[in-house]
Amino acid sequence: MSNSYQSVMARKAEIMKEALKLDYDLYEDEGIGFNYEKMMEDSGFTLEDVKKIQLANNVGKTPLIELPRLSMYARKFSKDGYGARIFLKDEAANISGSFKARRAAMSIYQAKKLGFKGVVAATSGNYGAAVAALAARAGLKCIIVQECYDSNGIGQPEIIEKARACEAYGAEVIQLSVGPELFYEFLKILEETKYFNASLYSPYGVMGIETLGYEIATEMMEKEKKYPDMLICTNAGGGNLTGTARGLIKAGANETIVVAASVDLSGLHMASDRDFNQKSFTTGHTGFGIPFSTFPDRSDVPRSAARPLRYMDHYVLVNQGSVFFITEALALLEGLERGPAGNISLAAAFSLAQTLKQDQVIVVQESEYTGAGKHMKAQVSFASDRGIEIKIGDPLKEQPGKNIIFPSSGSQIKHKELLMDDLRKSYLKHYKDQELTENDISFLAIELKTSNEHVIELMEDKDETKK
Ligand SMILES: Cc1ncc(COP(=O)(O)O)c(C=O)c1O
Repeated sequence: MSNSYQSVMARKAEIMKEALKLDYDLYEDEGIGFNYEKMMEDSGFTLEDVKKIQLANNVGKTPLIELPRLSMYARKFSKDGYGARIFLKDEAANISGSFKARRAAMSIYQAKKLGFKGVVAATSGNYGAAVAALAARAGLKCIIVQECYDSNGIGQPEIIEKARACEAYGAEVIQLSVGPELFYEFLKILEETKYFNASLYSPYGVMGIETLGYEIATEMMEKEKKYPDMLICTNAGGGNLTGTARGLIKAGANETIVVAASVDLSGLHMASDRDFNQKSFTTGHTGFGIPFSTFPDRSDVPRSAARPLRYMDHYVLVNQGSVFFITEALALLEGLERGPAGNISLAAAFSLAQTLKQDQVIVVQESEYTGAGKHMKAQVSFASDRGIEIKIGDPLKEQPGKNIIFPSSGSQIKHKELLMDDLRKSYLKHYKDQELTENDISFLAIELKTSNEHVIELMEDKDETKK
């Protein structure tokens, strides 16, 4: 069999089927839709099963902590009677230091159950460390494929740090430079090793996160006798928000407002060799968050189980300087030094808390560990070495790739809100040249958390803008 780029890509569907033992064709409907809920159910795990598997691996049941001093600080800038109580689910307490362990626990369990000897994951982030740690516990071999360097061989500090973590857990790490070779290498490795595809986007990965939402809802009900008023999720590939929101619903917390938060990297292109090292955040940013929300099936499986627009009520952005500021505020006011991705949601929560009343509760659904390469000092000096100006001023004026603007006080931390209908229209653009049936429209209404009538209006509106 040829290993040319074209030949490997042409074998993609077969390779994927073998590596997950999941036949996605079973769930396809006629037209554009597929049966998402059946795909999730057929995995054969109930929420109780997932809880048990995770607890047996020291995953889950992380502390839900109130942040009273940070909440008081937000109140200083709120109108009278405003400034909600901010809580944080301390996911850094999981094995490997992030909520990604919840996903990995399920992928590894499934790989072992199906008799695979090893697992492969294509990830430059926390998921690599999580898969490596859980594979180590299960006695499985593990290969992590990372997009790590630009063409000058310069690696992003956070990704380099992650490679060290993966290696510490005994994984083999394959580091590549920016470009399309990642997926090609990944497929080749799956085919050669016959290992399991521990995809972030399989039903197993995403159902692992449902316990996070379930824990937040039930623990909050126990502590405060109510469900959270608002929940903020750092959004990139969308699994975090999807799984957490599904878990909230399974616990009965149907009224909680679910907010996606990303760091604003507008203007930087994720596939660009030059832009790759111009950013100080490697996940939770708009470069992943917007394309994956508006086209979830761009992932490494035929149908992604991460479908965030089904569950999202709002999508807000914060700038890099504000996330660094809040990272320091969390350490100085609450004695918690945590990593970058979770603190994106915290910066958003700090601003959003000021729009809610004092007796309301806002939950930041995760924190992550920090370490040498994730630390803001490493990121700020890396950015400065690449010619990015570090300033104090109005964070809303930050220009990603040109400067990082720190607020001079918490009063300057402000979120920007994206319009949900703009996101929905971007999603619908993928179907602009197709005749859609009634079933298609119903599928799209569920995908976009809206009504059939509104989907039709948005499609017409999109046609108007095209003319
Ligand atoms: C700590 C942390 N938070 C949030 C995210 C975003 O999760 P998702 O890609 O599922 O949206 C990631 C993913 O890289 C992460 O590692």
